[in-house]
Amino acid sequence: MPQAVAGYCIREYRDSNCEAARSLFAAGMREHVPKNYLRMLTLPRAHLFLLGVSLMLFPSSGSLLLSLLAAPVLLAAGWLLMDSYYVQFVERWLREELWDIQKTCMEREESHFWVAESEGEVVAIVSAKPPSRYTDGERTLELARLSVRWSHRNRGIARALSGTVLSFAQ
Ligand SMILES: CC(C)(COP(=O)(O)OP(=O)(O)OC[C@H]1O[C@@H](n2cnc3c(N)ncnc32)[C@H](O)[C@@H]1OP(=O)(O)O)[C@@H](O)C(=O)NCCC(=O)NCCS
Repeated sequence: MPQAVAGYCIREYRDSNCEAARSLFAAGMREHVPKNYLRMLTLPRAHLFLLGVSLMLFPSSGSLLLSLLAAPVLLAAGWLLMDSYYVQFVERWLREELWDIQKTCMEREESHFWVAESEGEVVAIVSAKPPSRYTDGERTLELARLSVRWSHRNRGIARALSGTVLSFAQ
């Protein structure tokens, strides 16, 4: 049953929403790259590592330039590594689960997929699925693939989608 939330409609996924759902998932996950990179930069052990490598390079290579360049090169490598981790993560889920959402999420009793629609456009997604980790025999469901389009954030859409998953689980 579609549920209206402040101008948005939460409803079940349809095949025609496939591309929108895939790109919302990919965009939402890629946002984590800068966030996590900045978080990593605040870690004292990251500072220690950069300092340690720079300081070790000077006596071993005798080059001040090399020692000064070590930190920016490592920072760039860190960014590329993190970006490639998320690219692989997104590609994996697009390939394994979101290639055919109807089949992977809608045809089994214990999983489901919803979209939030605004003015005919899909602006958010969420799914419920069996837990990916062992849960000691408890009957649980996992909320997954939650992503809200940037332009529609902070309007309670994620909260409403989470409520939909909760009702489904109950
Ligand atoms: C996280 C996300 C789903 C929130 O969507 P939203 O529609 O803006 O969220 P809502 O407006 O429903 O906010 C619900 C609550 O979550 C909080 N919230 C919103 N974004 C948050 C974030 N990134 N981290 C922590 N809390 C957040 C809000 O402050 C609000 O709390 P409040 O009611 O106590 O003030 C959205 O920012 C997004 O799609 N991010 C990218 C993908 C992502 O990170 N998905 C999460 C699973 S990995």
